[in-house]
Amino acid sequence: MQVLNSRKLESLLRDWRTAAPAYSALADRIRLLILDGRVPIGTRLPAERELAHQLGVSRTTVSATFARLRDSGYLSSVRGSGSVAQLPSRDAEASDSMSADLLDFGKAAMPAAPELADAALRAAQDLPAYLGGPGYDPVGLPQLRQAIAERYNARGLPTSPGEVMVTVGAQHAIALVARVVMDRSDSALVESPSYPHAYEAIRAAGRRLVPVSVTTGDGWDDDAIQQAFARTNPALAYVMPDFQNPTGQVMATDQRRRVLAAAARHGTVVVADETMAELAIDQVDQPLPLAAYGDAVLIGSLGKTVWGGLRIGWIRAEPTLIHRLVRARFAGDLGTPILEQLIAVDLLGQYPAILARRSAQLSHGRQHLEGLLSHTFPDWDVPRVGGGLALWVGLGRPVSSQLTLAARSEGLLLAAGPQFGLDGAFERFLRLPFSYADEQTERAVRILHRAWGALSQAPAPELGYLAEVV
Ligand SMILES: Cc1ncc(COP(=O)(O)O)c(C=O)c1O
Repeated sequence: MQVLNSRKLESLLRDWRTAAPAYSALADRIRLLILDGRVPIGTRLPAERELAHQLGVSRTTVSATFARLRDSGYLSSVRGSGSVAQLPSRDAEASDSMSADLLDFGKAAMPAAPELADAALRAAQDLPAYLGGPGYDPVGLPQLRQAIAERYNARGLPTSPGEVMVTVGAQHAIALVARVVMDRSDSALVESPSYPHAYEAIRAAGRRLVPVSVTTGDGWDDDAIQQAFARTNPALAYVMPDFQNPTGQVMATDQRRRVLAAAARHGTVVVADETMAELAIDQVDQPLPLAAYGDAVLIGSLGKTVWGGLRIGWIRAEPTLIHRLVRARFAGDLGTPILEQLIAVDLLGQYPAILARRSAQLSHGRQHLEGLLSHTFPDWDVPRVGGGLALWVGLGRPVSSQLTLAARSEGLLLAAGPQFGLDGAFERFLRLPFSYADEQTERAVRILHRAWGALSQAPAPELGYLAEVV
């Protein structure tokens, strides 16, 4: 069982106090941490006395907090095992069958590209040619590896199929590379903020994550990157040079060179996650893929460009590393599904047209969301991004978790800023996707507006949906 000590919980809680009584504010914040996975289900929370001491509150406050969390189903207290995080059973059911009214803006994603359905029909017709074999494919169909290599060639990075391995989405690729490149004692350089499931995958493979900052104003902190390499000798550096998630930043060409030079000096494997890279909106010259400037492993995916449900990703690396990755793969899975790979080959054949439509959709979505935000929240800092799926909005106050909870009670799921950081940072930020239909975005902003207004007022009594279901 995972155990959370009081110091760690305090760092996740950050500025948890609100106008509400302390026990209620603390219960709200812990509930959000459980709901968004920062405190995983099954984690044992610190003992009441220890937590009270750490937070500088009375034991009675913590007892009342835990009692409230128990009553609403977020904690179970078993004699001998302490207080363990859980979801109320009704909430677990709700997340299984995601209520139709719920707007899930926690995901920056789009519905499937319309080409997908026909591509799937054609792929089904091609499938019989494969049914005579065993069907386990750990490296990828030759024609898909070829199509992916051609895509890199078209982007200006000469690539051969032998440098490509197909995976079950980019998430699988990140976890696999981290597992193969890192030892348990190794550190990894990561961006902060960054994509939270990459943190999880890399943390599971190594010992420590070393954050370097990326901001919407200044991009990557060059000095911090150089110092992090020198100070910690990371085995791996995980970066998103193109439309970084969540900030939307693009790393300049000279900085790409500097990062790769520093990594080469320290023997660090640089992994560039290009999941967002092909979602350009503005037709400006994008730098070449990171591996054009030096040694880097690239990770790609059709998850954001075509559909998350397709589960096709890949790794581009030198062939000896590809061999190691393929060998290591069997401990986790036995290959990428053949039918999905056939669909992917078909779609890559029409990729430029798919990307052009995505770009037009995202251009519209970006403009729509920017317009709504500037009208509704003139004080928020809304950055301009050249691509990707979301805006990393500055709220001006450290209230992202509170806002997320208030919006949730009205049926809008959001990823609070701290989900993208380590140890509770980014309470002043919120990631807002512009990838949804106009009506959904409008409804989301209306809910945000009400939730924002409610923050400054006395909290509503914890009853009904917020208290018991979510
Ligand atoms: C930056 C980044 N990398 C990887 C992934 C995972 O992609 P896939 O669906 O291909 O596993 C995501 C999904 O949100 C992402 O945002």
